[in-house]
Amino acid sequence: MKKIYIGMSADLLHPGHLNIIEQARKLGGEIIIGLLTDKAIASYKRLPYMSFEQRKTVIENVKGVSQVIAQETLDYVPNLRKIKPDYVLHGDDWKEGVQAKTRQRVIEVMSEWGGQVIDVPYTQGISSTQLNNVLKEIGTTPQIRCERLRRLLASKDIVRICEAHNGLSGLIVENTSVIQDNKKREFDGIWISSLTQSAAKAKPDTGYLDTTSRLEMINDILDVTTKSVIYDGDNGGAEEHFIFTVKSLERLGVSAIIIEDKTGLKKNSLFGTEVEQTQEDKDIFAQKIKAGKQAQVSKHFMIIARIESLILKKGLKDALERAKTYLEAGADGIMIHSCSNTFDEIKEFAQEYNKFENRKPLVVVPSSYPQVSEDELIENGINMVIYANHLLRAAYPAMVKTAISILENHRCKEASDEYCMKIKDIITLIPGAK
Ligand code: SPV
Ligand code: MG
Repeated sequence: MKKIYIGMSADLLHPGHLNIIEQARKLGGEIIIGLLTDKAIASYKRLPYMSFEQRKTVIENVKGVSQVIAQETLDYVPNLRKIKPDYVLHGDDWKEGVQAKTRQRVIEVMSEWGGQVIDVPYTQGISSTQLNNVLKEIGTTPQIRCERLRRLLASKDIVRICEAHNGLSGLIVENTSVIQDNKKREFDGIWISSLTQSAAKAKPDTGYLDTTSRLEMINDILDVTTKSVIYDGDNGGAEEHFIFTVKSLERLGVSAIIIEDKTGLKKNSLFGTEVEQTQEDKDIFAQKIKAGKQAQVSKHFMIIARIESLILKKGLKDALERAKTYLEAGADGIMIHSCSNTFDEIKEFAQEYNKFENRKPLVVVPSSYPQVSEDELIENGINMVIYANHLLRAAYPAMVKTAISILENHRCKEASDEYCMKIKDIITLIPGAK
C-alpha cells in the first residue's frame, strides 16, 4: 500500500485542506497526516487557536485520513525519513514565500527513495489567513485568552510581551508584526505596567491608582485585542484584597498577575537603593501567594512571584532562597528583577535557578540592561521577556517634539508634515469609524 504524507496545522479546517486530502484519496493508499505541534507552529507564526489534541480530534475524523502523527518541527525531514512516503502533497502556495525553502528540502529528501512531491492547486477564495483575520475581528473569550499564556510558555522558546497603557497602544501590540528569515515575529501578549498606566494618567508609580481604575483601563485594551494579558500587581496589596484582584482578573480573561515581594509605600524598582524600599518577609509573601492560588477559580490563571533581592542589593543567595519559598507556596513562575546595567546578575540567578527540580517559568524585564538579546535570554533558560515601558517612552518624546514644532513655527504645518500621521489615517485607524 502506498504511503501519502500531508503536513498541516489543521487549525481552521477549510475546503482547501479537504481538497488536498481528496486529491490524496484519488492516489489510493494510506493517508498519513503530519500534524504540526503547537511548538512547530509557534516557531514561525502565531500559536494556533486550537490545541494539538483538539486539532488531532478534528483531522483524524476527516474521510480518508488513516493516521495522524505529530510533526514536531516545521521541517518535514525527520518524519519523512521515518516514514519514507511515496507521495507528499501540499497546496501549491508553498512554492513561493515563507515556505519555498521547506518545499525544496522536501523534494530533495523524497528523491532519496524515489518519492514524489505533488503541489495541489491552491483553493481560491478561502485561506487560513482570511479566517484568522475574521476570527481576530470577532475577538476571543476570557477563557481562551486566559489559557493562552500557559500554551505559549509550553510552545515557545521565549514568550515576548510588550507594554500597553491604553486601547490604542494595545492595538499596536496586537497588530504589529515583522517577517524575518521567513518567520513572522510578533508580540505574544500585553503587559499592564503600573509604571506606564500611572504615567499615562500623569500619576507617580506609587500605588496611587486603585485597582478599580486600573481594571477599567484594562477593559479598553481587552476590547480591541485577543492576545494574553499580564497584570503588574505591585505587591498585591493586603492578602484580603489580593484574593479579590485575582478573581476579577481571572473573570476578565487576564492570564497572569505578577506580584513583587515589597512592603510599605510603593516606589518603582528601577530607583534601586536611591529611595527607601522594603522587602517583605518571605514567609508572609509566600502566604499571600498561597491565598491567591486558593482564590482562583480555574487552573489556568497564573500567579508569578517577583523577587526584588537584586534591586535591594540583598544578593543572589537571598534571591534563590526566596524563589524556592515562593515556588513551594504555589507560584506559577518567578520574575527576577534587576536595575543593573548589565545582564550579569540575572544570568547568575538563572544559572542556579535552572537547577531547581520544581522550576517554573522564569520572567525578566530588561529595562536597565536593554542590550541583552532574546537569543541570549533563551540560552540562559529564560522563558518570558517583558518590554515593560517602551511604547509610552517612545510616545512622550514624539509628542513633545510636535508641541515644540508648533510653538516654534507659529503654525502646525511643519509638525503635520514631519511628525504626524495623515488625517485620513487617523480618522480611519480604528475600525468602525466610517
Ligand atoms: C512596571 O512596568 O511597572 C514594572 C517594571 O513593574 S519596573 O518599572 O521595572 O519596576
Ligand atoms: Mg510596576
